[in-house]
Amino acid sequence: MIEVKNVTKSFDDKTVLFDVSCTFYTGKTNLIIGQSGSGKTVLMKSLVGLLRPEKGEILFDGRNLLTMSSKEIKELRKEIGMLFQGSALFDSETVLGNVMFPLMMFTNMTPAEQRDRAMFCIERVNLAGAENKYPSEISGGMQKRAAIARAISLNPKYLFCDEPNSGLDPRTSILIDELLSDITHEYDITTVINTHDMNSVLGIGQNIVFINKGHREWVGNMKEIFATTSEALNDFVFATDLFQEVKEYILKNGFTAQGAARRHKDDHPDKP
Ligand SMILES: Nc1ncnc2c1ncn2[C@@H]1O[C@H](COP(=O)(O)OP(=O)(O)O)[C@@H](O)[C@H]1O
Ligand SMILES: [Mg+2]
Repeated sequence: MIEVKNVTKSFDDKTVLFDVSCTFYTGKTNLIIGQSGSGKTVLMKSLVGLLRPEKGEILFDGRNLLTMSSKEIKELRKEIGMLFQGSALFDSETVLGNVMFPLMMFTNMTPAEQRDRAMFCIERVNLAGAENKYPSEISGGMQKRAAIARAISLNPKYLFCDEPNSGLDPRTSILIDELLSDITHEYDITTVINTHDMNSVLGIGQNIVFINKGHREWVGNMKEIFATTSEALNDFVFATDLFQEVKEYILKNGFTAQGAARRHKDDHPDKP
């Protein structure tokens, strides 16, 4: 569990996060949603220690990131997997080389052990057979899978993904979401995902934190979002007439995300 308490972050005289408090739960897909420019990336970078808020606490299962020594931060980093915008793979390394990289850097494993662990992760994201390919030789969705394999190679307790679906078509996006969701539940990871993709919100939003212009405006799950009284959230989520109609329909008839997920699985029998 990660608890964010009263975090404020400014750049020079411009405040980007105002007294933000929220909780990200273990074994759940926690989503940070909001308009472009609302502060999602700044919040995520603060969570992983790439930016330093001037106020507040960030507790990783009780351990406050903002009062840690650099040695303690280094230790914590080993428990963190990251998937940043774009897949950020090394172009000159194969898929296998990319996934082995953190193992080479941060463990005492022998090369054979690194290879075994990397292949396990590559198989887990359904990329077996592509391990010797270079990033330029595989599709965007496969690159994303490779980046996920690399992010979970150290068996992280915490997984951070900034807009994991950017640049992917809707169907591939859903498959990536489902992979992240499956991995989260299978390995009991505290997963935090930045997104402005409504399919993700309604597909895997178990705990949703809505950031509006740097303020934490709302928290809830994908069902509660339909009954929100927050005008800003309503405007963000149900931006189009079509989504407004979907909302009216669901409020009247109830929400059947599980049915949708099941139908989707039937469409993809080859899914992990
Ligand atoms: N290093 C920085 N210096 C100054 N302003 C920044 C910096 N990084 C982000 N910002 C500003 O913080 C705000 C939130 O940005 P960001 O977190 O990237 O939004 P989001 O990820 O929700 O699209 C924006 O107004 C952005 O210009
Ligand atoms: Mg961003």
